[in-house]
Amino acid sequence: MKSAIYPGSFDPVTLGHVDIIKRSAGLTDKLIVGVLNNSTKTPLFSVEERVNMLKNVTRKIPNVEVVSFTGLLVDFAKEKDCHVIIRGLRAVTDFEYELAMAQTNRVANPDVDTIFLTTSLKYAYLSSSIVKEMAQYNGDISKFVPEEVIEQIYSKYGR
Ligand code: PNS
Repeated sequence: MKSAIYPGSFDPVTLGHVDIIKRSAGLTDKLIVGVLNNSTKTPLFSVEERVNMLKNVTRKIPNVEVVSFTGLLVDFAKEKDCHVIIRGLRAVTDFEYELAMAQTNRVANPDVDTIFLTTSLKYAYLSSSIVKEMAQYNGDISKFVPEEVIEQIYSKYGR
């Protein structure tokens, strides 16, 4: 594949995300990590913070580019001249939402296909929401997120 987009909120990035990024980067010449910047969501981290965290944790993967996008994912894909979207599937509970999103995107732009990677089993339970919940109550998040971002996450909760 010439290029692919791995989109998400990444609020914050988890080890599950990094696992998908590493595996996808091995499948394509260029992987664009697209960080959603839509005003309807109120994330814990600003889009700049999320982009910087992702740039930091992917700095050793040469074919990864991290950028934010606003609006529709298919428009971002068109702007980047990219025809492949990559999403991770953790469990059957993800499936309905992911299927609807992939189908909607294909109706909106039939040139774009979505490829699903199954999340590695050791991260199947993991989500950004779980990380935030654990960090909020001073739980140990070292098994959930890359080392480089641990302090930044705790600092959001005044620790
Ligand atoms: O990490 P997330 O929050 O599960 O990622 C969801 C994301 C960013 C991929 C999705 O919300 C998205 O693509 N939003 C952009 C708006 C869009 O294109 N919506 C149409 C698809 S239903």
